Amino acid sequence: MASSERRIVTIDGPAGAGKTSVSRRAAGRLGLAYLDTGAMFRALALALGPGGHALPEGEIAARLAAMTFSLAGSGAETTLLVDGAPLPDAARTEEVGGWASNLAVLPVVREILRRAQQALGQCADLLAEGRDMGTVVFPEASRKFFLTASPEVRASRRERQLTALGKPADYAAILDAIRRRDDQDIHRAASPLIPADDALVIDTSELSEDMVVERIVTAASA
Ligand code: DC
Repeated sequence: MASSERRIVTIDGPAGAGKTSVSRRAAGRLGLAYLDTGAMFRALALALGPGGHALPEGEIAARLAAMTFSLAGSGAETTLLVDGAPLPDAARTEEVGGWASNLAVLPVVREILRRAQQALGQCADLLAEGRDMGTVVFPEASRKFFLTASPEVRASRRERQLTALGKPADYAAILDAIRRRDDQDIHRAASPLIPADDALVIDTSELSEDMVVERIVTAASA
């Protein structure tokens, strides 16, 4: 169980709902460390490579259990360290996101990462971002949010992000990948992507990033 002494705020939602930049900024404003749990799934995906999810379960579990996760810095400047180093940019691609989604259906992966996430939540007051933070990992969080947006809006945002990073971006392919990843994340048996009953759901399709941050900070401070 998560520590009830620590202050935990959770932000869940699908890929491209604007969670990452909003979560970082909200963490800074609320004085909480920022935990990007998608990065933990991505770290495993990168370590195992494209066919990682098809490896024997015992091998996946052993590789994951040997990885160490820690947080450096604070607020918006918090960095997740994997085996003592920040996650490389190579982990941020759509491709690695797909591999991470494949691994995320495996209960053994979710179980090991749930424990690692809860351990981090015992070391610091956290804003934890992911898919099942409010439902499974930190059910006793003091405030829970679920960000969503239409698949088309999410695909355009992702296209803009990739273009800004100088990476190739094909809108149709991104939209297709988002739809497939949503389908897999929503329909998996273990910790499906759904809002917690007590989460505040925010549709970000028509909202600026500033507006979403304000809404979260106001609600979490109330
Ligand atoms: O948020 P992201 O795109 O970096 O996450 C990558 C994948 O990891 C995503 O498709 C689903 C999975 N994930 C998860 O299942 N649970 C989390 N708490 C975070 C991510």
